[in-house]
Amino acid sequence: MKKTIIALDGHSSCGKSTTAKKVAKKLGYAFIDTGAMYRAVSLYFHENHVTLTNPKEVEKALTEIHITFQFNEQRGASDVYLNGLNVEEEIRKMYISQMVSEVSAITIVRKAMVAQQQKMAKHRGVVMDGRDIGTKVFPDAEIKVFMTADPTIRAERRQRELLEKGEMIDLDIILENLRKRDIIDSTREEGPLTQAEDAVLMDTSFMTIDEQVDFVIQLHDSVLARI
Ligand code: DC
Repeated sequence: MKKTIIALDGHSSCGKSTTAKKVAKKLGYAFIDTGAMYRAVSLYFHENHVTLTNPKEVEKALTEIHITFQFNEQRGASDVYLNGLNVEEEIRKMYISQMVSEVSAITIVRKAMVAQQQKMAKHRGVVMDGRDIGTKVFPDAEIKVFMTADPTIRAERRQRELLEKGEMIDLDIILENLRKRDIIDSTREEGPLTQAEDAVLMDTSFMTIDEQVDFVIQLHDSVLARI
C-alpha cells in the first residue's frame, strides 16, 4: 500500500495529538508531535536562561539541542527526549505552555525544527501534528486536516488533562493562555497557523475521539483510492 503523509494542523487542545496517535496506530504509521519539539526547545531555553531576543544566544543554544523520539510501550506513543533525557512530562507543564508560542515564533528556531521534521518523514508513512505541517513542512502531504474547536471547550479539555497530571489551574488562566497562543501562532511571520487551501476542516467541539479518528481514516482511504 502506498504510504502517505497525514498533516493534522490546528489550534491547541482540539485533540490533535490524541487523534494523530490513534490514526498512526491504525495505519501502522509513525506519529510525530511537532509541538513537543518546540516545547523541548522552550525547556532548554528556560533551563539555560537563553534570552529570546538575543539571536546569537538563540543560535548557539540551537546547536546544543538534540531532540529525539523514543516509543513508550505503556503510553502507546513516542516520548520526546532532550539531549538524551526523557522530558515528556516536564514539557506539558503550564510554565512551558506560557513560553512556547514566543519561542516557536523565532524564525531560526522554526527553520531548525522544520528541517528536522522534513528529515523525519522523508520515507512518508507518518502522521504529523502541528501548526504549519500542511502549509510549510509538507505542502505536498496527501492528507491535510485543519482542526479547530470552541475555545471554552478546548480550555475545559486542557484543564482536565492538567488535572490528571496533578496541576490544578483556573479555567480563566487556561482560556487566556489558549487565546494568547492562538494570536501569536496565527500572526507570526514564519509558518503562521493557517488552514492550507487544500485542507479539510474538522470542528471537534462536539466530536468524540473515535469520531475524529474515523474522519481522518475515511479521508485517508478516499485519497488513497484516487492516487
Ligand atoms: O501542539 P502544542 O500545543 O503542544 O504546541 C505547542 C506550541 O508550539 C504551540 O503554541 C505552537 C507551537 N507549534 C508551532 O509553532 N508549530 C508546530 N508545528 C507545532 C507547534
